[in-house]
Amino acid sequence: MTSIPDTGRDYESVLDELKTFSHDDPDYKSGRTWSLVYYLDEAHTDFLNRASGLYASANGLNPMAFKSLKRLETEVVRMTADLLHGDDGACGIVTSGGTESCLLAVKTYRDMAAKQKKIRRPEMILPESAHVAWDKGAQYFNVKPVRIPLDDGFRVDAEKVRRAVTRNTVMILGSAPGYPHGVVDPIEELGEIARAKNIPLHVDACVGGYLLPFVEALGHPVPPFDFRVPGVTSISADTHKYGYSAKGASTILYRNMDIMEHQIFVSTEWPGGVFASPGLLGTRPGGGVAAAWAAMQAMGREGYLSRAREIMDTTQKLMDGINAIEGLKILGSPEMSLFAYRSTEKKLGIYAVGDRMEKRGWHIDRQQKPECLHAMVTPRHRDIAETYLKDLAESVAEVRANPKLSVQGGAATYGMVSKVPFRKMVKKNVLEMMRQMYGPDGQALNLAEENAGKGGIADRLGRLFLRLRS
Ligand SMILES: Cc1ncc(COP(=O)(O)O)c(C=O)c1O
Repeated sequence: MTSIPDTGRDYESVLDELKTFSHDDPDYKSGRTWSLVYYLDEAHTDFLNRASGLYASANGLNPMAFKSLKRLETEVVRMTADLLHGDDGACGIVTSGGTESCLLAVKTYRDMAAKQKKIRRPEMILPESAHVAWDKGAQYFNVKPVRIPLDDGFRVDAEKVRRAVTRNTVMILGSAPGYPHGVVDPIEELGEIARAKNIPLHVDACVGGYLLPFVEALGHPVPPFDFRVPGVTSISADTHKYGYSAKGASTILYRNMDIMEHQIFVSTEWPGGVFASPGLLGTRPGGGVAAAWAAMQAMGREGYLSRAREIMDTTQKLMDGINAIEGLKILGSPEMSLFAYRSTEKKLGIYAVGDRMEKRGWHIDRQQKPECLHAMVTPRHRDIAETYLKDLAESVAEVRANPKLSVQGGAATYGMVSKVPFRKMVKKNVLEMMRQMYGPDGQALNLAEENAGKGGIADRLGRLFLRLRS
């Protein structure tokens, strides 16, 4: 469709057509995806839709107008602060997602350091495994990212963090957990460094914020990662992940308003009037906030706890099963439901194993440094874990029997992209794919599909692009 139809259509026919569009999308309802989606069931999804629909037209831009929305936002923030052991001074907002929460923390600490310490060349210290949203924040807000290597357990090396602090450091980051390996950084040690050097410490609990507290309550070992750690000044936690809310909602919390005030934008000279805004957006959709509030009410602590139990049982079963497959090994010791595994044999290409799994209908993310496959476990995976392990064992056997699979198809593409030493070249080609994808005809996917197998880095990156996750 390239122009708006001359006459409108009835709602039902539009909805019927919309439903037909998703038939090629990943089958997340049967647990075939291992990233992107935190789906419980149809009843929960319908409930979220209804909650969100009640506020579909509301606008959180002006909290004085939609007082009910402000109330919902305040309550989501308070419930989250309570979960993460913030005291009465804790404050924050609901954002549009994890990335907005991360970007806001960068902006807040850059501006706080500029005001309080006159820092003009800001730097921020990030674990190597920190989510890429932090690089985005660094780029958008002109803060130099200083990436710190991980130790053997895939946690950031706290001693190296200590040594990386300079007079320009405006914040330190720790993840709880980091997305790539699912391990929690040593937040207590980072907290001590932050306090000793008088630097803010943000904990990125976007993926763990609504799960780790329940994993801890179940008796699993979870190192302190929240406001109980004295040096922690802010935390991001996404309701649209393990909070089981609708997409489009996260929280950013600060220990107190003296820190958070640096996040707030105020303009007094605009002809449209005096304007103040607490986040990145202007118009703030009400649906995400309402659905976040509703999800927390419907789940209750009991609901979150039983889901956490289910998830942890499934995760343990999967990790044990993977470690039991000769040639595969889980990386580090993940605290919750995210993990990665690699090949321990030179001839067993892990990306080729990923290809074989894809052929069996699984949507699995490939990671690099080291090359590995990734899994993010949700309640949907309970009933399918055994099938996954069976398919994985078969995939490994296939690749072992035919090592050439490691240099063909997707495996070749991923292998090349992860090893190409000229990262600028990779970047240039990925940028070109983005130009095509978001260009006038938006046809990059088709182009990449048509060119598949014709060789050349641009083509290979095109194929990679088909699989890029958000
Ligand atoms: C640790 C962490 N931080 C930030 C993000 C970004 O969140 P979003 O995709 O909601 O923007 C993610 C996403 O998976 C994450 O795992």
